[in-house]
Amino acid sequence: MTTIHVHTKHNAGPVDRRIFGGFLEHLGRAVYEGVYDPGSRRSDPNGFRTDVLEALRGMRMPVVRYPGGNFVSAYDWRDGVGPRDQRPRRRDFAWRSIETNQFGTDEFIQWCRALGAEPMLAVNLGTGTPDSAAALVEYCNLGSGTAWADQRVANGHKEPHGVKLWCLGNEMDGPWQAGHVPADIYARSANVAAALMKKMDPSIQTVACGSSGRWMGTYLEWDRVVLETCWDRVDYISAHRYSTNHENDAAHFLAEGVEIDRILDDYAGLISYVRGRRRSDKKVYVSFDEWNVWYRQRSEEGRWEEAPHLLEEVYNFEDALVCAQYLSAFIRRADLVKIGCLAQIVNVIAPIATRGDDLLLQTIYHPFVLYAQNAAGISLRPVVEGPTYRAGRRGEVPRVDAAATLDAESGRLAVFLVNRSLESPASVEVHLADGTIGGVRSCRMLGEVDVKAENTWDSREAVKPREGRAEAKNGMLRVDVPAPGLCVAVADVALGADT
Ligand code: AHR
Repeated sequence: MTTIHVHTKHNAGPVDRRIFGGFLEHLGRAVYEGVYDPGSRRSDPNGFRTDVLEALRGMRMPVVRYPGGNFVSAYDWRDGVGPRDQRPRRRDFAWRSIETNQFGTDEFIQWCRALGAEPMLAVNLGTGTPDSAAALVEYCNLGSGTAWADQRVANGHKEPHGVKLWCLGNEMDGPWQAGHVPADIYARSANVAAALMKKMDPSIQTVACGSSGRWMGTYLEWDRVVLETCWDRVDYISAHRYSTNHENDAAHFLAEGVEIDRILDDYAGLISYVRGRRRSDKKVYVSFDEWNVWYRQRSEEGRWEEAPHLLEEVYNFEDALVCAQYLSAFIRRADLVKIGCLAQIVNVIAPIATRGDDLLLQTIYHPFVLYAQNAAGISLRPVVEGPTYRAGRRGEVPRVDAAATLDAESGRLAVFLVNRSLESPASVEVHLADGTIGGVRSCRMLGEVDVKAENTWDSREAVKPREGRAEAKNGMLRVDVPAPGLCVAVADVALGADT
């Protein structure tokens, strides 16, 4: 039996819905044949795939990051605006592909509007300059009367795009990145770029490049230098992680949440440290703007083709349970993580795949939808008492990974429970210390399938949410979670005195 105690006063603050964001890069078939496919009968007059838009709407993504990724570090945004027949074809060295530039900044903004998401643009600080980054802010956000703003108007977009979120480059600590430099050099250029960009439009927010991952030698030290240099001009620091299961050790892999919590602890500590050193009251948050499972399809070789098949990872059930744990970790640290971007959204390491005019929902689509549709209000900090299990090299870890949200307005408590155990179903009791839990509104479950089960073109629904088992009794909530599995239960609560 696992017992979870929550108290409304013991919370991490409101959950920022932008943790349910996504990431779209010019890579493989993500843009072309993914979101933009003018030849498809599924596309609207703009060439946007309506079936892809509809599937993404189910994920309720409030924000999408674009255009890279590694791609952005040698991208000239000016290639992607203006009359389509005058846009240059270019070699993209990040993915050894041909970029036709038929989809660029204006199309992306238009596509975001169609989706109902906020655009988050990354600027090129690899081969690009702070000056060209500021010019993109001018192009997007200024009314008219200056060269780049007038150019946007001439390109058919009278109203400014009003882009609020700006990433200052991508993974600049990675030797694989075009224009990769040591931390102090990146920090200086990011600081200049942020200053120019914010002078252009003081209402924007900037995201400094954090380290590309915990496995990097530069991890945290890079971030410290960047934060110390850019503190006054940045609002977020980015974190990235791609989970792997090369060893095919499900017990170990299913405890990925432990690692994600650790990364968030590391960033919380670092931000506090720099804030303390600066004697500052300012708040800087984490933008976890690339996360997913990714280890099977690693080839970067696009053979200089247009829209080559790259990074077309096929996901299984254990991957879906790992994705669930990212979202639970972000909810638990609602005070720290304000933006999260699932990398990526279609065809390339993605929850959605297209083949011709057809579309498939991969396993990782489902946990995302269950979280995005049910997390609301504040994040309650769960105290979990229960059995542990041996997670390979990670040692003993709790069997149940839990997160909870409370929407006081609607009186709804949502609990997100991942049972990591391969053998033992989890019987979970949720106690709300300052209230009673009444009827169960819904309980959806992913489980009772093989950890390696995949959704394929021939078997599209091998993994999909089903009715879960939950009941409210004696003022508490009882949920049975399969081994392994995910349950998302929503119940009515009546708040009152501590019990
Ligand atoms: O998402 C795929 C790649 O992973 C991105 O281009 C890069 O930022 C990261 O290394």
